[in-house]
Amino acid sequence: MSRQNLSDYLSSHAPSATLAQLILSIAEVSRAIRDDLSGGALNDILGAAGAENVQGEEQKKLDVIANERIKTALSALPSVRGIASEEEDEVVAAHNDGEFLVTFDPLDGSSNIDINSMVGTIFSVLGSRGEGAVSEAEFLQPGRQQLAAGYVLYGPSVMLVLTVGKGVVMFTYEPKSGEYLLTEAEVSIARECKEFAINMSNQRHWHPAMQRYIGELLQGSEGPRGKNYNMRWVAAMVADVHRILCRGGLFCYPWDARKPEQAGKLRLMYEANPMGLLVEQAGGKVCTPDGNILDIQPEHIHQRVPVILGAADEVTLCLDYHQQ
Ligand code: AHG
Ligand code: MN
Ligand code: MN
Repeated sequence: MSRQNLSDYLSSHAPSATLAQLILSIAEVSRAIRDDLSGGALNDILGAAGAENVQGEEQKKLDVIANERIKTALSALPSVRGIASEEEDEVVAAHNDGEFLVTFDPLDGSSNIDINSMVGTIFSVLGSRGEGAVSEAEFLQPGRQQLAAGYVLYGPSVMLVLTVGKGVVMFTYEPKSGEYLLTEAEVSIARECKEFAINMSNQRHWHPAMQRYIGELLQGSEGPRGKNYNMRWVAAMVADVHRILCRGGLFCYPWDARKPEQAGKLRLMYEANPMGLLVEQAGGKVCTPDGNILDIQPEHIHQRVPVILGAADEVTLCLDYHQQ
């Protein structure tokens, strides 16, 4: 059976040739990151880079390498006006007359690198609206305005998962040809589920509504939900969300009382918005306890949010508990 490659898919589905080119460029750079990863310790990519990012998190060597690779590739495209990355303090200007702004998490789940477990690259594309050099203010658009969003998952196989605003598709990397080939043309998340993902070690720090909601899932068939739930936690949002796109489920990274002033751990513009668009386009729901993530007006590029996403009925119920 012959499968459609990414380039052919984009020629017929991307709203413009320039957006198609941008996504192909991310696919190209993901091949290099895959090569970095596949050599592991042999490529001297493991461990810490010896610095912190602007959010006070230790940077891994591969966070820095992946960031540089993506920044270089995107900055070379005339259509790119500017980029914002989890690993860059400020927005980076590219071409003043470009039409796109790209935000990305170069390496999601970077604590997994040293244990040879799954990581990914998450990206989001917005339209630009400025003159002269790009400013941070131009990036502060609600997630609903994303023109495209997706991720590359570096797992046992490498996959590129994408939305250009209508539906979600999955491509699998074929090492022999170096091509991404379409392997799932219509991703859809069931409304109900029996599996959830949350870092349970933080349970005692959550809001009481979240404690009650997850507590009831844990009670299984003896509790009010009347059925047993399974739990999974990869510690890479990209892999946890991928599982939900493949077989359903719920993912939460809630607010936590240890840092009450910090809304959550995950970043709105590099993680929650792109994953949120994918989940919504696949028929799931994505919210904070206050409402839909994609409607949030960002205040700054490195903003954090609590995240509840996945199976529509579970997300709705979890939200109800918070709003009671
Ligand atoms: P990053 O590696 O880009 O900093 O993101 C890691 C995030 C997210 O991918 C994951 O769901 C979460 O952190 C894991 O957090 P815990 O360490 O609390 O499990
Ligand atoms: Mn991340
Ligand atoms: Mn990261």
